[in-house]
Amino acid sequence: MQSFTLLSLFVFVNSGSSAVLRRERNDAPIIGVLAQELPKPQAFATSYVAASYVKFLESAGARVVPVKVNQSHQEYERLFNSINGVLLPGGGVNLTTSGYGEAARVFYSLALKANSEGDYFPVWGTCLGFQELTYLTSGKFLLSPTNTTGIALPLVFTKDSRNSKLFRNFPADILEALASEPLTENLHQWSLTMKSYNKSEELRMFYKVLTTNFDGKVEFVSTMEAYKFPFYGTQWHPEKNPFEWIRSEIPHSPNAVKATFFMADFFVNEARKSSHQFPSKEEESEALIYQYNATYTEKTSPFEQMYLF
Ligand SMILES: *[C@@H]1O[C@H](CO)[C@@H](O)[C@H](O)[C@H]1NC(C)=O
Ligand SMILES: *[C@@H]1O[C@H](CO)[C@@H](O)[C@H](O)[C@H]1NC(C)=O
Ligand SMILES: *[C@@H]1O[C@H](CO)[C@@H](O)[C@H](O)[C@H]1NC(C)=O
Ligand SMILES: *[C@@H]1O[C@H](CO)[C@@H](O)[C@H](O)[C@H]1NC(C)=O
Ligand SMILES: *[C@@H]1O[C@H](CO)[C@@H](O)[C@H](O)[C@H]1NC(C)=O
Repeated sequence: MQSFTLLSLFVFVNSGSSAVLRRERNDAPIIGVLAQELPKPQAFATSYVAASYVKFLESAGARVVPVKVNQSHQEYERLFNSINGVLLPGGGVNLTTSGYGEAARVFYSLALKANSEGDYFPVWGTCLGFQELTYLTSGKFLLSPTNTTGIALPLVFTKDSRNSKLFRNFPADILEALASEPLTENLHQWSLTMKSYNKSEELRMFYKVLTTNFDGKVEFVSTMEAYKFPFYGTQWHPEKNPFEWIRSEIPHSPNAVKATFFMADFFVNEARKSSHQFPSKEEESEALIYQYNATYTEKTSPFEQMYLF
């Protein structure tokens, strides 16, 4: 494996008379996915990562490491400096008191600091992860209940989405499909309403709203990106379309599967801009999700397969 030898990340290139610092692309990105506590701890496992998040990232050329709950700050910091992005997945734990919430808080603050110092490090939140981002940025619980537990919806794009980092380079036909077909699975009891977003100066200054949705009564934020940081959030589930089959409303059409790929492609390309690497090949191997087997959990969970820790 050549990731260490090929990763000479900054090169000076002579362009005319001036030497310019150019960031080389990291074509071996590794992304951390946060684990979270199981609703009911088992004898053999107390936490999990749903395999669909792993496949989502792998499908676009990344490898994955699990970020386990209850590690020390020092261990999280060492991992942060070894990986190229972090994904806060969906799930059902408490945003403030869970091990997931604590890991999210540590990685979020490390990512804020790193990006402010020119060390590119992308962060993605899906569903609960999106909600965690709203909590970490504002320091407040700003969510409201909505009727959105199991419904696929088309996205309502805002004007701002056109020049967004996330959607700017999407194929036009996929954007059109996302706007007109119900390709985005919503499976959440809480949402950030547009009203709450409008009222929160912290959120308004930090995030641009790219899409919204409507539950019949309330308009809520469904996709957002930060203005000055490579931080992205979807209240919906891009990872489910190709990989989750338990809930009947999850879309699996050709456009649904393509939309998923372009979401993954975008985020993995963001991770390719990060230069972090593991201190050694051995430490990298030890950390990778390949050290674990996915378990078929269709009968006992909302996921086809889970990694259990
Ligand atoms: C994490 O630590 C807390 C507090 O020590 C404990 O209650 C919880 O069971 C631990 N969770 C896991 C998944 O180990
Ligand atoms: C999370 O835990 C805190 C502290 O126990 C509690 O106040 C809050 O209501 C919980 N959040 C949710 C969404 O249940
Ligand atoms: C929630 O939305 C569903 C459609 O997705 C609808 O059938 C149901 O009546 C709604 N429930 C409430 C309480 O509004
Ligand atoms: C939020 O603010 C925008 C821009 O000012 C406005 O167009 C929109 O109607 C507001 N939405 C709500 C629900 O307050
Ligand atoms: C994964 O499965 C393989 C084949 O059954 C087995 O050899 C290996 O020990 C398992 N790994 C773990 C971490 O359980």
